[in-house]
Amino acid sequence: QKGGYDTFMLKEIYEQPEAIRETLRGRVEKEKIHLEDLEKLDLEKINRVYFVACGTAWHAGIYANSLFQKWIDVPSICVAASEFRYSDPHIDDKTLCVYISQSGETADTLAALKMSKEKGAQTISIVNVLGSSISRASDVTLYTCAGPEIAVASTKAFTTQLALVTLLILKMAELRHTTVDCKAELLEGLKRMPEVVSEMLDKHELMKQYAAFLKNQEDAYFIGRQLDYVSVLEGALKLKEVSYVHADAYFAGELKHGAIALIEKDTVVIAMATQPEVAAKTISNIEETMARGANVILITTKDQPAPKFKYVIRIPDVHPLLAVIPVTILLQLFAYYAAVEKGRDVDKPRNLAKSVTVE
Ligand code: M6R
Repeated sequence: QKGGYDTFMLKEIYEQPEAIRETLRGRVEKEKIHLEDLEKLDLEKINRVYFVACGTAWHAGIYANSLFQKWIDVPSICVAASEFRYSDPHIDDKTLCVYISQSGETADTLAALKMSKEKGAQTISIVNVLGSSISRASDVTLYTCAGPEIAVASTKAFTTQLALVTLLILKMAELRHTTVDCKAELLEGLKRMPEVVSEMLDKHELMKQYAAFLKNQEDAYFIGRQLDYVSVLEGALKLKEVSYVHADAYFAGELKHGAIALIEKDTVVIAMATQPEVAAKTISNIEETMARGANVILITTKDQPAPKFKYVIRIPDVHPLLAVIPVTILLQLFAYYAAVEKGRDVDKPRNLAKSVTVE
C-alpha cells in the first residue's frame, strides 16, 4: 500500500509530479484554459470575492487571493473558514466564494459554504475527494486530481491546489477581459512543473542533513516576503504537525518588530528569498539573524547573490509566481526528516485527524 515507502507521507510527497500532471491534464491547451464549468456562473457581475478554507488549504487560499489581487480589480480577501462562518460577511448574488478543501468534508468549510449559499453567493469549490459534501453543495466544483491522500499532513493536495487555483484565477481574468501579461509563461511553467518538482525531490539527502540541525532545538523560524510568505506558513505548519517542533512563520520585514528577540546562537531559521523585487531585502533581514548566531538555511533562486550564507538551496528557473511549488517540496522533505529524526509517528501525528469534521 505504501508502494515501498516507509510512510504514506513520503509516498505522497513523491507522487507530486504525477499528481500535478493529472491535475493539469485536459485543462491547458497551448494558451487556452479549459474550465468550462465556470460558465455556469455569472462572473461578470461579481463585485466581491472570498477565498475560504482551513489549514494547508487556507494557505492555498492565500496564494489564490494574492494572484487574484494582482490581476483582477475586484476586492477580495482570504479568510479562515472557522472565522468566516461567524463573521456575518457582506454577501449577495454579486459575491463569489471560493472554497478549498482536500477532503471536502471539513466542518467549518462546509458550514461556511452553506451560510454563503443561503445569503445568495455564487460558489466554487476546489476539492480532491470526488462526491464529497463540499463538492456536492457548491455551484461549481473543480477537482484536484491528487489521488487519495492518506497521511494526515497534506502534501500533494496542497501543490495540486496551487496549480489548479493558478488556472482558475487566470481563467477568471480572461472571463473578465483582463490581460495577464505573463499568462503564456505561467502556463508553460505549470506544464514543466512535474520535472521541476522531481528536481526538488532529488534534494532529499540535503534536506535530511538540514533537518538534523533541529536535533537539539525546540523552535524554528520560517521567514519570507510576499508569495514566499505562503511557503513560510506552509513550511511552519508542516514542521509543527509532524515533528512537534515549535515553528513560527514571519514576514521578513516584521522580524525587527519583535520576533528577532527570540534569535540566539544556533536558532534554526529557514529563509525564503525567491521573489525578485524583495529578495535582497529579505536577505539583509536574514543576515541580521545570522549576526545573532542563527543557523540559517536559505532557499533562493539561481542568480540571487548570497555570499554570506553557508547553507543555500537554489530552486530551478521558474516564474516567481510559481516558486511556492518547488519551495514547498523542499519544506515538506525538511519537515518529514525532522519528524523521522525525532522518532515521530509521521502519518498519524498526535491530536490530529485527517479530516476535521468537528467544529
Ligand atoms: O480536507 P481539508 O483540506 O479541508 O483540510 C483542511 C485542514 O484540516 C488540513 O489542510 C490540515 O491543516 C492538514 N493536516 C495540514 O497538513
